[in-house]
Amino acid sequence: MIQALRGMKDILPPESSLWGKLQGLASSVFSSFGYQLVITPIVEKTELFVRSVGEGTDVVSKEMYVFTDRGGESICLRPEGTASIMRAYLNDPEAKSRSLKAWYWGPMFRYERPQKGRYRQFHQFGVEAIGSNSPYIDAELIYMLDVFYKKLGINDVRVELNSIGCELCRPSYKDELVKYLKSNEDKLCNDCKNRINTNPLRVLDCKVENCSKIINGAPIIQDFLCAECNSHNDVVLAALNSCGVKYSKNPLLVRGLDYYSRTVFEFISDKLGGRQNALGGGGRYDDLSAQIGGQKIPSVGYAGGVERTVLFMPELDVKAVTVYVAALDQESLNSLAPIIYECKKLCIDKEVLFIDDDFKARDIKKHLSRADKLGARFALIVGTNELNSSSLVIKDLVEKKESKIDVKYNEVEFTAKLIVGRMLEEKNS
Ligand code: HAM
Repeated sequence: MIQALRGMKDILPPESSLWGKLQGLASSVFSSFGYQLVITPIVEKTELFVRSVGEGTDVVSKEMYVFTDRGGESICLRPEGTASIMRAYLNDPEAKSRSLKAWYWGPMFRYERPQKGRYRQFHQFGVEAIGSNSPYIDAELIYMLDVFYKKLGINDVRVELNSIGCELCRPSYKDELVKYLKSNEDKLCNDCKNRINTNPLRVLDCKVENCSKIINGAPIIQDFLCAECNSHNDVVLAALNSCGVKYSKNPLLVRGLDYYSRTVFEFISDKLGGRQNALGGGGRYDDLSAQIGGQKIPSVGYAGGVERTVLFMPELDVKAVTVYVAALDQESLNSLAPIIYECKKLCIDKEVLFIDDDFKARDIKKHLSRADKLGARFALIVGTNELNSSSLVIKDLVEKKESKIDVKYNEVEFTAKLIVGRMLEEKNS
């Protein structure tokens, strides 16, 4: 049997209904805060991510799915969404004259070692506010995400926050950090030894025990922030305090992608454990647009991992009334099938669900045993007797009661309305 590729998984029911809920809530919550849906291609020029996410990052140097297309161009499966959204914004002559608040959803690809909560094809929902340097946008974004997680039923997440300065103040911090790390190089893991030259801030993120000891004594960025970065950070924190979002400051929080400046943050759940404890992360990226060839456009955003988020969502409280359709012979099935189609149309958004109708005639015993396995509440039963007497049996499988209703098998709409009316009455009783 052909299997899915390593690190790529199918999303099947019942898990897929959680995905549906997440997507629906993302749309309603983010729209309410002014974010509009943007869809970009899954394949991009490799250069887009090399210039934005950064050559020295794990994502670009080790994890991208890169191909040469038939025209000889280097293209890749997108490893993240932010650079694509910014490219789309810069490419659109209409959009460029205004700011854009975008939300998106879709598959991303990273060639990582698969484990729980980490896949090679994974999905992100994301939000990007392009065109404002106001710290109130950063705070609103964090507030909105806090609301979003709570609406999903996830309460045990916390926000960790840091400022990593800007292109003016970060270089002097980097110099100090590199000096400190070099003086402790012999105690660092091999990865961190390499990072001193390629991406020294990433050393702060290392979870190897010996490295942690060194990191705890490292200089911290707060002592190097310029006046503008400091005041930006102060406003973000004050706004979060005013709107009641609980956060903790983490001076060691740096992100795995190079484009960030000032605010960086992650929504964390300790239940995830290990290095995969972030449900999502984001921050300000005021220089990204210039890195990919546009003018400087201050922006801030966030992306959450759908697979990880779904792990924490409580099971759905399904209130729908479930109805099993039992035709006892072919002739009854012929009459019943179009009525059931009509019933389903009438039940859109009504929480009455006709389940597992494989449209096969069976004897009553087999039907009832299937209905039981599927957890149906009611069975609609039609056989020769019912056809001949223009009636239909409704069996309540929980209360173990049955009743008959009079129907007209040659009047599809009329009969469907009767059935649905009765099911809605049962639902509301
Ligand atoms: P990121 O931290 O690389 O940021 O990814 C965001 C989230 O995507 C992670 O916290 C995690 O939940 C999920 N994720 C990442 N890799 C995997 C994987 N291999 N398997 C499962 N889930 C994964 C970004 O991608 C930025 N674009 C976020 C952003 C938006 N910054 C500003 N705007």
